[in-house]
Amino acid sequence: MKSAVEVLPANPQQAQALARIVADAEFLQRYSNALGTPDEYIGRALQSGTLLTALVDGEEAGLVWFVTQGTFGRGGYIRLLAVRSDRRRSGVGRALMSAAESQIFQVSEHAFLLTSDFNASAQRFYESLGYMSVGRIPGYVVPDVDELIYWKGRPASSPPL
Ligand SMILES: CC(C)(COP(=O)(O)OP(=O)(O)OC[C@H]1O[C@@H](n2cnc3c(N)ncnc32)[C@H](O)[C@@H]1OP(=O)(O)O)[C@@H](O)C(=O)NCCC(=O)NCCS
Repeated sequence: MKSAVEVLPANPQQAQALARIVADAEFLQRYSNALGTPDEYIGRALQSGTLLTALVDGEEAGLVWFVTQGTFGRGGYIRLLAVRSDRRRSGVGRALMSAAESQIFQVSEHAFLLTSDFNASAQRFYESLGYMSVGRIPGYVVPDVDELIYWKGRPASSPPL
């Protein structure tokens, strides 16, 4: 039977486990710590108050860090999403995105995220959730990688703002 996914606010006791998941995310190797080390990254995310973690069988299986508003004036922004490699393709990423979006769409009309030009599996994942690729920023973080801008509008079924 498939294990249930529980998504909750992250707490400082989970910092090490979450940093390991970030360190494991293959795409970050191309950024050679331009975004800070995994420990620094998780430290900043914990302080922001909008870091959620997915628990499967009581263990940290993934995380999402986001802001609910301000992006291009009208949108929230998914800053980082990562799922532990042995828990992928079992709905953990979808559950994390759904939890982040439900907070974003309470206050914003739009959700945005960036993904690396080479990260084809993440692009397929976001497209499966209804995101559309709407632009490209050349060398935004590191010179040899372009960032693709993905966008999703607030679903019509959301309660009014
Ligand atoms: C991208 C990522 C977060 C997806 O998380 P996940 O838990 O594996 O995704 P889910 O199981 O919720 O998948 C939901 C749907 O997305 C699509 N999808 C997910 N991974 C996919 C892949 N590798 N290729 C094609 N489609 C994919 C599928 O439609 C899938 O539904 P299905 O399994 O029923 O077919 C995960 O692969 C990951 O952590 N990758 C490394 C870090 C990363 O690249 N983060 C994104 C940075 S922008």
